[in-house]
Amino acid sequence: MATPVEYAQAHRSQFEQELSDLLRIPSIGTLPAHREDTQHAAHWVANHLKEIGMTVEVIPVARHPLVYAEWMGAPGRPTVLGYGHYDVQPADPLDLWTTPPFEPAVRNGGLYARGAADDKGQLFTLAAAVRAYLKTGTKLPVNVKLIIEGEEESGGEGIAAYVQSNGDRLRADAALVLDSGVYAPGIPAVTLGLRGIVGGEIEVIGPARDLHSGGYGGVAPNPFMALAEIITGLKNADGRILIPHFYDRVVPPPKAETDAWAKLPFDEAEFLRDEVGSTALTGEPGFSVFERNWARPTFEVHGMPGGFIGAGSKTVIPSRASAKISMRLVANQDPAEIGRLFEAHVRSLAPRGTQVNVRVSRGAMPVVVPHTLPAITAARAALADAFGHEAVFIRTGGSIPIVSAFIERVKLPTVITGWSTPDANAHSPNEKLDLEHFHKGTIAVMRFFERIGGAA
Ligand code: BES
Ligand code: MN
Repeated sequence: MATPVEYAQAHRSQFEQELSDLLRIPSIGTLPAHREDTQHAAHWVANHLKEIGMTVEVIPVARHPLVYAEWMGAPGRPTVLGYGHYDVQPADPLDLWTTPPFEPAVRNGGLYARGAADDKGQLFTLAAAVRAYLKTGTKLPVNVKLIIEGEEESGGEGIAAYVQSNGDRLRADAALVLDSGVYAPGIPAVTLGLRGIVGGEIEVIGPARDLHSGGYGGVAPNPFMALAEIITGLKNADGRILIPHFYDRVVPPPKAETDAWAKLPFDEAEFLRDEVGSTALTGEPGFSVFERNWARPTFEVHGMPGGFIGAGSKTVIPSRASAKISMRLVANQDPAEIGRLFEAHVRSLAPRGTQVNVRVSRGAMPVVVPHTLPAITAARAALADAFGHEAVFIRTGGSIPIVSAFIERVKLPTVITGWSTPDANAHSPNEKLDLEHFHKGTIAVMRFFERIGGAA
């Protein structure tokens, strides 16, 4: 009989095929038109976990169900709770994809599809690791619980409510959150911090109806000009957010952490050219790129629906315009409080003659994990073992809404890591999963089970 690692190595192409089946399901959780596809992905995951030998439950929550699975066949041994999400971001703009987003294709060692890296390829490795033991008749060194959600990209409301009232069911000796990435190709990482987020929409209504811009220009308020004034009143050209009391609760990262960031291999010119692809980086003077990206809050505009956007010109003063925005938050900012401060400041900026409506999302709390947790030591060793390279400590500028509840509500020692590479194009056209990292990721999960189980 093969060992679990031999099984995983022998089944690489089967794992890739099966993952491709999941990637063909367009589970865009944020789009109402993809509601059934998203449910379909939940059931695919549930069936897959059943087939590999876990006990599975599909739990209906707010919009898209949770998939909960467990294998508790190691009584007396520690328990690991694995987390991932089966929902994906919208795939547009579609014309920029080399191959269609929901027709997985392999090129240069990468599996291209929406959700390949974020997060289907990552959650798959949790299942692959469990399966490698169960299919080889090898006793798992730990008990395993998996919680896979379908609302991560839309804020994680359902799982939050579930964890609030069923937290005890998720008790474990360590949580393994697979929704982050490596630091660089071949350099695995433990993510010690996530930013929080609060999203919103600012709607400005000017005239009661669209107006001829000649007939009324110079006298009627233009909602886009009002939005421009409001937005520049929210953040200045130096990246400083101008909302009163916005920074009151911001805690700077400890010096040990920023010292470690300064030692990470990083070439700013290369980052600018290859990842950002613009002519200059922006943000607050006096803070490094890592600090600005991982440990400082942001305000960003995502889109400004309204007015005339068809071909050619139309001389009109639109009646309404809006801006979809979000703010990334850092410890110890609170999304609800920031939402209130934001709304009050936006109202104070409303130009004469406009009506401003503000909507604010529930948001997500920022997360900071102490690097001294034994589970993190275990994860570092497991990552080093699987990748053949020491694991570094990073933070990420992104958010995973449920993680703060894992830590605060369920008191789980939480390890955040993952296999996504910086060139994965998450949330962007041509998203890809590097297959080498994917397979090493499966081995890393197995090594983590062994370390937590005390078997290595
Ligand atoms: N996997 C990402 C979070 C992430 C981003 C981790 C970058 C590591 C590096 C996650 O799926 C995500 O994108 N979350 C959303 C949550 C939001 C919509 C509430 C995000 O951060 O925008
Ligand atoms: Mn994700």
